[in-house]
Amino acid sequence: MKGLFITFEGTEGSGKSTQVPLLVERLQEWGHTVRVLREPGGTPIGEEIRHTLKHSPANSAMTAEAELLLMNASRAQLVRELIRPALSRGEIIICDRFYDSTTAYQGYGRGLNMEAVRSVIGFAVGNTIPDVTLLLRVPQQVSEERLRSRQATLPFIRDRMEEADRAFFERVAKGYDEIAAAEPKRIQIINASGAIAEIQSAIWRIIAPLVATRQH
Ligand code: TMP
Repeated sequence: MKGLFITFEGTEGSGKSTQVPLLVERLQEWGHTVRVLREPGGTPIGEEIRHTLKHSPANSAMTAEAELLLMNASRAQLVRELIRPALSRGEIIICDRFYDSTTAYQGYGRGLNMEAVRSVIGFAVGNTIPDVTLLLRVPQQVSEERLRSRQATLPFIRDRMEEADRAFFERVAKGYDEIAAAEPKRIQIINASGAIAEIQSAIWRIIAPLVATRQH
C-alpha cells in the first residue's frame, strides 16, 4: 500500500498540538499504522537542532539566515531518516509542521529572499512533498490568547521563536494565506477558532476519503 504524508501547519496557538493526537487516534481505530513527527526535530539530530533554534541560552544572536539553514538541516535529516522509509513501507506520516512553515516564518516573517528560501527547501526535501496539508487558521487575537493561556499554565521555558513581535506573526499569518491560495489542491484551510470536536470533524472530512482511496 502506498504511504500517505499529511502535514499540519498554522501559527502559534492554532491548535495543532490538540488536533494531531485526535487524528492519530481516529486513524489507529481504523487499523492504520500512523507515525507522528514534528519539525524542527523528529530525529535525534533534529531534536538537538530544535533545542539550538528555540531554547538554547546561546541562541539570542541567531541570524535569520542561520535559522533558515538549521530548520532545513533538521528537515533534510528527517526526510531521509524517517519520512521516506516510512512512506515506502506504506505507513501514514503526520508531521506537525513541514516546509510551508519555512516559507511562512523565514520567507514572509523574517523577510528572507524568497528564491533563496525555495532553493534551500528544495535541497532539503527533494521530491518529498505532502499529499495533503491542513492549515489551521485562527484570527491573530485567538492565537495570542491561546499562547498567553498556555504560558500561564505551563512552567516558563524561554522560546526564541516566540520572542518575535506582533508584526512578525501578522506577516506569518498573511504568508500562510498566500501559500494556501497558491496551492489550493494540496493545502486545505481549516477554520480552527471553534470547538475542538468541530475542528476535528472538519479535519476528518478531508482525511477520511484519502484514507479510503488508499485501501482499494
Ligand atoms: P512548535 O513546534 O511549538 O510549533 O515550534 C516550532 C517553531 O519553529 C514555531 O515558532 C515555528 C518555527 N518554525 C519555523 O520558523 N520554520 C520552520 O521551518 C519550522 C518547521 C518551524
